[in-house]
Amino acid sequence: MTPVTLHDKTFDSYLSEQTIKERVRELAAQISKDYAGNKGKQSVLFIGILNGAFMFASDLFKELSIDAEISFIKLASYSGTKSTGKVVTAIGLDQDLFGRDIIIIEDIVDTGKTLHEFLPKLQHSQPASLRIATLLHKPEATQYELTLDYVGFAIPNKFVVGYGLDYDGLGRNLREIYQLSGNE
Ligand code: XMP
Ligand code: MG
Repeated sequence: MTPVTLHDKTFDSYLSEQTIKERVRELAAQISKDYAGNKGKQSVLFIGILNGAFMFASDLFKELSIDAEISFIKLASYSGTKSTGKVVTAIGLDQDLFGRDIIIIEDIVDTGKTLHEFLPKLQHSQPASLRIATLLHKPEATQYELTLDYVGFAIPNKFVVGYGLDYDGLGRNLREIYQLSGNE
């Protein structure tokens, strides 16, 4: 596919619509298998992280064959005190997580800082289990200890857009994932 230009930058096609679709199906099948035992008990609660994960969350959710609920939150980070550093808070989390099986849906784990700071807050609510499903992971960039339970694609440390991910607001509507052009 042809490159796209967003604002001042050019991005090359990286993961096709078909490749993403097939991988999302595989992840959904794996999750459905892993949580098949929940049938008749409490359903799995998926929490999508806005904005980037909206498209992945929607496509993954459609492919599940288990009883599942979905909710979306937005993470906001602000500077706390010197001792706490950056503080990540969730906006829009209205469910009681106590005793629930939770799967966080992320678009991409880069440094891992966001989830590293946010997961302990969720643990505080004492869910029965807490797992992460991320479409993309940049292993070379990750600096924080994180267990990623479901990973769509491990990718090189290059900026990507499309399929929910943006460059300065643009590119979320692209059906494929594009990578910042090599010469930029
Ligand atoms: P980390 O793991 O570093 O990631 O806390 C924080 C957030 O940064 C965004 N991010 C990206 N967004 N292309 C994007 O469009 C990228 O290559 C990229 N890398 C990181 C993303 O919102 C992630 O949740
Ligand atoms: Mg994100």
